[in-house]
Amino acid sequence: MKPDILQLGPQLDRINNAIAQCFTVHRYWEATDKQALLNDLSDRLRFIVTTHKYGPDAAIIQALPKLELVASFGAGMDGIDLDAAQAAGVIVTNTPNVLNDCVAELTLGLMVALTRNIVQGDAYTRAGRWASDGPMPLQQELTGCTVGILGLGRIGKEIARRCQAFRMHVVYHGRNRQPDEIFPYYANLEDMARDSDWLIVVAPSNSETRHLVNSRVLTALGSDGYLVSVGRGATVDEAALVAALRDKKLRGAALDVFEEEPHPHKALLAMKNVILSPHTGSATFRTRNAMADIVVENLHAHLRGRPLISRAV
Ligand code: 8YV
Repeated sequence: MKPDILQLGPQLDRINNAIAQCFTVHRYWEATDKQALLNDLSDRLRFIVTTHKYGPDAAIIQALPKLELVASFGAGMDGIDLDAAQAAGVIVTNTPNVLNDCVAELTLGLMVALTRNIVQGDAYTRAGRWASDGPMPLQQELTGCTVGILGLGRIGKEIARRCQAFRMHVVYHGRNRQPDEIFPYYANLEDMARDSDWLIVVAPSNSETRHLVNSRVLTALGSDGYLVSVGRGATVDEAALVAALRDKKLRGAALDVFEEEPHPHKALLAMKNVILSPHTGSATFRTRNAMADIVVENLHAHLRGRPLISRAV
C-alpha cells in the first residue's frame, strides 16, 4: 500500500505527477472539513508536501504525531513553523541553491530596467512619443555606482558577482562579517545605505529582519538612491517605502516581493518610479523544474532511508 502524503496547496504538475506514483495524496486545501482530514490521518501520516506560503503551522504539525518529513518547494521557509517541527522531531527540507542564478538574474534585470527607464521607454515608443516629442530625457546608469546588499547569502553572492560584472562597487550588511568575502562589510545597515546608491534586499524573513528596511534606512539611502527587494516582502516596511517615494526621499524602487502578496500597497501601483514584479524571482522552467525535482528526491530519499538532498531542520 502506498504511504499517505498531505499536500497543503497547489504544486507544479511535475510534483503532482511524481508524488501520485508513490503516495496516496490528500489535498488539504480542497478538503471541506480540514479537521476531519487531519483526524483521519493522525495515526499514519508521515509526509507533507508544501511551499512556505501554505505552512504547516504548529496546529497541523501537532495534529499529526506520526509526521516525519515536510518537503517544501522553495528556499524560504517563513510560514512553516520550524520551531514546532523541531520540537516534534519533524524534518523540514527546502530547495536552496538551484534558484540562486535565476533570482540574481531577475535582480539585475530590475536594476537595469529601473535605472534605464526600460518600461517607460517601451510605452514612450509605442505611443509614438519618440516621433512627436523627440528623445526621452537622459537617464542614470549602474556603472560606477555602489550597491549595498542586505543579506549576502547564496543568492546575495550571485547578485554581487553580477553587479561586479556591471562595474559596480559591492558592499554588504548582514548579521556577521564573512571573512572569506572580499566585499567591504558594514555592521550597521543605515551606514551602508548612506554610502550606497542601490540597496538590494535579499535577506531571509524572520522576526529579526521584519521591517529592517524602515524609514531611517530609506532616508539614509537618500533622494538619489534606489531600492530593490527580491527576498521577502516583510523585510521592507512598505508603508515607509511608499512615503519615501512619495516625498522624493528615494529615486526609485523595484519590488519582486511584497508584504501582502499578491496585493502590493495600492499607492505603489500609481507610482512611475517603481517597477512591480509578481514574485517571479525563481519563476523559470529550468529553475522551477529543478526545485520540483529536489522536493521529490527528498521524499524518495526519506522513503528509502537514503540521505536527504537538502535538510533545513
Ligand atoms: C518561490 C521563493 O516563489 O524559494 C523561495 O523562497 O520565494 C520562490 O522561489 C516560491 O517558493 C514559490 O512558492
